Amino acid sequence: MKGKLSLKLVTAAGTMGSVKSVILPLLLLSFLLYIANSYPNNDLSNMGCEKCALKKHEVFSKDNPTGPVYQCMGCCFSRAYPTPLRTIQTMTIPKNITSEATCCVAKHSHETFLEIPRATVRNHTDCHCSTCYYHKI
Ligand SMILES: *[C@@H]1O[C@H](CO)[C@@H](O)[C@H](O)[C@H]1NC(C)=O
Ligand SMILES: *[C@@H]1O[C@H](CO)[C@@H](O)[C@H](O)[C@H]1NC(C)=O
Repeated sequence: MKGKLSLKLVTAAGTMGSVKSVILPLLLLSFLLYIANSYPNNDLSNMGCEKCALKKHEVFSKDNPTGPVYQCMGCCFSRAYPTPLRTIQTMTIPKNITSEATCCVAKHSHETFLEIPRATVRNHTDCHCSTCYYHKI
């Protein structure tokens, strides 16, 4: 009885082992595929955030006789990492987290006057990921 039980356990362990040895390369493969997919378009840094593009501004476009107003919206490349110690020592205001980012900004735009909020807004016509004019963290 005892002998049979331990034999079963060995078999179970053996099966588990072979399942594991299949899963590991699969995980590795999907991880590599993930890197390959995310590398070329790293401006899509987080999922669910749309790529930098022109979007119709719903509020400004509504009831606007001159036409829809477009604004650049979306995500660009960004990353944050702990500031290297050597860099911290050279900073006037030490920050232990360094963030690098580009922002979705208008490449071309023109001013347009709106009757409804009675204000001048910029109608964007082309977007790109470029220098951030402001920082939000
Ligand atoms: C904004 O620009 C688009 C073309 O990019 C144009 O179709 C639209 O009429 C413009 N809107 C205003 C309010 O000038
Ligand atoms: C960064 O430094 C602040 C204090 O200056 C500390 O409260 C915070 O935990 C630090 N963050 C990291 C990630 O080290």
